[in-house]
Amino acid sequence: MKNEILSNITTECPWRDTLLWYDTVDSTNTRAKELAKAGAPAGTLLVADAQTQGRGRLGRSFSSPEGTGVYLSVILRPNCPPDALMHLTCVTAVAACRAVERAAGFVPQIKWANDLVWQQKKLGGILTELGLGAKGNVDYAIIGIGINCNQLVPDFPPELQAMATSIRQITGLPCPPAKLAAALTEELYRLNRQLLADKAELMDNYRTLCITPGREISVIRGDEKYYAKALSVDDEGGLVILSPDGKISTVTSGEVSVRGMYGYL
Ligand code: BTN
Repeated sequence: MKNEILSNITTECPWRDTLLWYDTVDSTNTRAKELAKAGAPAGTLLVADAQTQGRGRLGRSFSSPEGTGVYLSVILRPNCPPDALMHLTCVTAVAACRAVERAAGFVPQIKWANDLVWQQKKLGGILTELGLGAKGNVDYAIIGIGINCNQLVPDFPPELQAMATSIRQITGLPCPPAKLAAALTEELYRLNRQLLADKAELMDNYRTLCITPGREISVIRGDEKYYAKALSVDDEGGLVILSPDGKISTVTSGEVSVRGMYGYL
């Protein structure tokens, strides 16, 4: 599998030299963090065939069965304060959409903040995690991406079957995880070069793909849940919402998740 991924990554992408492949791992993000703390360089890529403890945002789990999806993490080392990376999760979603287009021929949409979706169902997700250095600057950023490639409905846990989909269900064709992993590597390499300099342009691309603005949503913050209308996404990746009392505020993906009023979207 590692060779299959490498054969699909252009030799101009130096990250191909730091690819680590796992048959099974607890979580590529957890491993990436350990490696980053031990000094692994930017561009260290971890790809697994299966994860036993795949993690999602806000402490959720991410179903990661063997041979059916792409589970990939990469270590970045941007030299900046953490506030300069508020947009990281959003722009990673744009890179992931581009990779799906290259590998499978269609462009997913994005449900704020970090879900790749297709026709009301979740295709994949993104988990970004930061580690800070002694002076408060970013020591490392981990980008983790999970995308469902070949699952059929019964392959998902029962509680996900109504709201999850895969590339195979969408296109009717199997999608080799190695091909998508290679496309993700190249798109993330490109993103890393633009991350700080081209933030406004990247966020414009995000707004083109994000379907949440304009929708009635429920905002979930721990045990609290309230209704609002999503208005827009700002340049930091925050969701601007209008509450029923007429108040406009901005919520961030680190503190809340959103659902549609009547379902997942
Ligand atoms: C979410 O849907 O909330 C985010 C899911 C992110 C899953 C990916 S799979 C690769 C990496 N390793 C993990 O444990 N999580 C991310």
